[in-house]
Parts: sequence; C-alpha cells; structure tokens
Amino acid sequence: MGEHVVLVGLMGSGKTTVGRIVARRLGRPFVDSDAQVEAGAGRTVREIWVAEGEPAFRRLEAAALRAAVEAGEASVIAAAGGVVLDPGNRKLLRGAGAVVWLRGDAELLATRAERGEHRPLLDTDPVGTLRAMAAARQDLYREVADHVVPIDARSPDELAAEIIELVW
Ligand code: S3P
Repeated sequence: MGEHVVLVGLMGSGKTTVGRIVARRLGRPFVDSDAQVEAGAGRTVREIWVAEGEPAFRRLEAAALRAAVEAGEASVIAAAGGVVLDPGNRKLLRGAGAVVWLRGDAELLATRAERGEHRPLLDTDPVGTLRAMAAARQDLYREVADHVVPIDARSPDELAAEIIELVW
C-alpha cells in the first residue's frame, strides 16, 4: 500500500487505456476496478446494477478498490469513475500512492466514452449525465488527486508519458 499509481476521473477520460500503457512502461501490474468487480461477481456491472441496484454495486466497488490498494505489489490502478463518491474510498485513495485525475470536459468525454455493459449510466443523454457528474464530483476528484492531467485532445501515449514524468 502507498506506492500505487491510481487513475481517477469520469467515464471516457481514458483511465483504462492510459493506465495499461503506464503499467506496461513501468513494468507494473495493471488493475481495473470494474474488471475486478465483474470477475469477482461473475456478472457485468450492468447485471449487478439491474439485479441489485447501485448501492450493491458501490459496495462491491469499494471492496475491489480496497483489495487493489492493499495488494502487495505496487500497481497501476484504474479506479472507476464513481469511487470518489464514498468517503471511505477517498480516505483509502489518499494513502494509496500517486493519484492522478484525468480531467476533461463533459462534451469531450461523451464523444470518447463507449456505452456498454459496464456503463448503464450512459444509456440516455450521455452529455447531460457526464455534465451533471462533473459538477457533482469535481471537488471530490480534486480532494484525492495529487496531480491533475487535462486530457484535451492528447493521445493515450502522450498522456501516459506525462503521468510517468509526474509520478516518477
Ligand atoms: C461509473 C463509472 C463506470 C462504472 C459504472 C459507474 C460512474 O466505470 O463503474 O458504470 O459512476 O462514474 P468507468 O469510469 O471505468 O467507466
């Protein structure tokens, strides 16, 4: 615990894509909290959401985040967009290592975020949803972040290079 690189930010900010590149370049394991939830539950995020509701999903998400942060090996962790909603998660993140917020405008994120089995919240009005999420969460991302990286129109490779420079 304490030496991870953790990527936070809204859906579509590139946490998974960029995180994989950072992990490969640093020679570290890569962990994605949504993938951990799905592997542990044997179901997709959408299935959990529909069958048990958001609070149940958030509990699994918190457990997956904790397991990733408490794992022995320093890793690169892509933390799902909603982890910052929970005060316990925020506390955990503050002691987890270098937390990087990939920040972008809702309009840009909506063009990048693919809808799918782990994103039931984007089923209707993705731009409006992301705009509301940005407003509700920006202070929370700021609270946990050691570094803020604007995504703008930059490629995953460029973003990964900047992150490595920041955390190295
Ligand atoms: C969510 C983000 C998603 C996924 C779920 C809810 C959110 O993860 O956990 O659909 O509340 O922001 P990604 O940020 O990895 O897409």
